[in-house]
Amino acid sequence: MVKSKDVFFCQNCGAAAPKWQGQCTTCGEWNTLSAETRTAMRVDARRTGRSDVSTTLALEAMHDEPRLATGSSELDRVLGGGLVPGSVTLIGGDPGIGKSTLMLQAAAALNGLGPVLYATGEESLKQVALRARRLGLERADARLIAETCVEDIVAAATGLVAKVLIVDSIQTMHSQRVESAPGAVSQLRECTAELVRFAKAGGPAILLVGHVTKEGQIAGPRVLEHMVDTVLYFESDTGSRFRVLRSVKNRFGAANEIGVFAMLEQGLREVTNPSAIFLSRHSEPVSGSVITVMREGTRSLLIEVQVLADPSLGSNPRRVAVGIDGNRLTMLLAVAHRHAGLSLQGQDVFANVVGGVRLAETAGDLAIVLAARSSLRDTPLPNTLIAFGELGLAGEIRPVPFGEERLREAAKHGFKLAIVPDANVPKKPPEGMTVRGVSRLNQALDVF
Ligand code: TYD
Ligand code: MG
Repeated sequence: MVKSKDVFFCQNCGAAAPKWQGQCTTCGEWNTLSAETRTAMRVDARRTGRSDVSTTLALEAMHDEPRLATGSSELDRVLGGGLVPGSVTLIGGDPGIGKSTLMLQAAAALNGLGPVLYATGEESLKQVALRARRLGLERADARLIAETCVEDIVAAATGLVAKVLIVDSIQTMHSQRVESAPGAVSQLRECTAELVRFAKAGGPAILLVGHVTKEGQIAGPRVLEHMVDTVLYFESDTGSRFRVLRSVKNRFGAANEIGVFAMLEQGLREVTNPSAIFLSRHSEPVSGSVITVMREGTRSLLIEVQVLADPSLGSNPRRVAVGIDGNRLTMLLAVAHRHAGLSLQGQDVFANVVGGVRLAETAGDLAIVLAARSSLRDTPLPNTLIAFGELGLAGEIRPVPFGEERLREAAKHGFKLAIVPDANVPKKPPEGMTVRGVSRLNQALDVF
């Protein structure tokens, strides 16, 4: 080590600045810069010229190591079919969402495949043991270590010839190479880099837990996203016992894949049929409600779209969208007015996706317009109906990807009638279901 120098790092986005500023110029957050010592390393001249070039792409592609099953089909699905040996996965989420619980359950299951080391920097061994008992895992023999120094953890995992290493959490870890406090950006990066090097040099598959933080004291997992292979986020609606694990980056599988869990007294249980949660079936048909099918990763989800049109008291009618893009809602209402004569002038329009889901796909367009008309006329649509399709500005209904998969999911849940884009009509509709293809908006509205 040759010299050390103070640098200011933004604790929110990780950007470096040569001097202190009130606002980070990269992410725009206030009061997030803090001084950290950066230590420059001397380049080791002996390391050059030793690189091995004897392998080829074809040779490497030949040996395919099987993935490790984590004991939870939902976690496996989000990982892209199990944990890849030697990969580094970051699991981020708010404190208390259930990251440690998920990791402990995975540790117990993975231990059947080889030694697992669970390094806890947050809780004492006693606390982890207590949780294990609550989860009914007291007989699992995954190894446990309460340690916050990455070098020691790497040494312990090496000694154990661990197949999987879990680090809970990366924000509590420190490396001897960096002087700043645990949780600081430079520590976070160095610890992660150290663990990534370890994993890639024939080491274990590593699962890193990272807290998402509002601002300030400890840096968030975002600054690590580019260093790891896979990034998963654990999310939940406030007050809900359901948890959604989402892959935002995955070098070994689809991004945006979701896994759904329920947090129970005895830990996390997987929810294999999530449509059932997001879908609140009304016993009687109600106006303003239409079911659509959304894709999340490789999964089709049935969700309910609701629209309420109500005479406006002010001169500026309101357009409120929850779970849908507000601009898209305005655009859809304009198309419906122009091409189907659906006039919502003088009406406040509220649109909502039930269950706190975000409908980011254009496939929901048709359902939104159908729901708007149903609310305006106060005529309920049959509750065995689903609709999906993208709406163009010329009033045309455009096809969406994975039409058949969507229809199959709907048929599985007992829906009898589907209104879909013409190009999405399958040669053979799913059993018990009538599929109506439409190419223009007025055709779709004419069905009822
Ligand atoms: P935890 O895994 O400690 O969260 P994180 O590591 O993300 O901070 O989970 C904490 C919450 O989960 C806590 O509020 C209690 C609840 N919980 C249950 O409801 N059931 C359980 O079996 C366990 C272990 C925790
Ligand atoms: Mg925890």
